[in-house]
Amino acid sequence: MTCALVVPAAGRGERLGAGLPKALVAVAGEPLLVHALRRALGSGVVDVVVVVAPEGEQQRVRELLTPLGVPDLRVVTGGAERQDSVRCGLAVLPEDVDVVLVHDAARCLTPPSVFRSVVEAVRGGGVAVVPVLPVSDTVKRVAAGRVLETVDRRELVAVQTPQGFAPGPLRRAHAAATAAAPATDDAGMLEALGHEVLTVAGDDAAFKVTRPVDLVLAEALLRGGGA
Ligand code: CTP
Ligand code: MG
Repeated sequence: MTCALVVPAAGRGERLGAGLPKALVAVAGEPLLVHALRRALGSGVVDVVVVVAPEGEQQRVRELLTPLGVPDLRVVTGGAERQDSVRCGLAVLPEDVDVVLVHDAARCLTPPSVFRSVVEAVRGGGVAVVPVLPVSDTVKRVAAGRVLETVDRRELVAVQTPQGFAPGPLRRAHAAATAAAPATDDAGMLEALGHEVLTVAGDDAAFKVTRPVDLVLAEALLRGGGA
């Protein structure tokens, strides 16, 4: 049994606005990508790692990750959209994997336990597995500045990564995806093909560093020993 982890880390980080690719932005002295990989490897369930790096940054990514001692590290360059980057990563996976995890470098504080529960659910027969959290805000559907309706939030969850997949269906979903409507997560692409997607419990620490305030939170959690 071999579990491969694909880490899309090729985004520009425009909403963060740090002037460099988000995965390389430092928090508590280390890039988000390093924090993310340390926790993924700490799960003990990851055998192969594919990092999808920003253009021109493969060498830097290799150097950053060398101290972590990844058993089998592959680094490729990403594409224009997240789904293009994941596809680039899938292209260099070994053939014999039984689980593929896809995990955003930007969810850099995701604890090892989430990786373990996602892998366990895939090995238990799930074709696609996502970590989820309840939505705490009231959510409304709007158009042209007016509220159309309030959505019952008891039916809603926020979806995190790592997402776990059986390799065949994930590859086929990426092969079938179109550039016209790029997906923001991989499970959505399997849903579109009619696959059942299972959920496991997510974690507050698995939030995505997206805007500057998220970096403040990550820094505080790391400095305070909460992550
Ligand atoms: N990502 C990627 N390739 C892309 C776009 C995104 O590998 N073309 C990765 C990011 O590096 C990140 C994850 O996908 O780890 C989630 O994307 P997001 O949070 O949107 O990151 P960015 O695209 O970098 O940020 P922004 O949208 O603000 O530019
Ligand atoms: Mg983006």
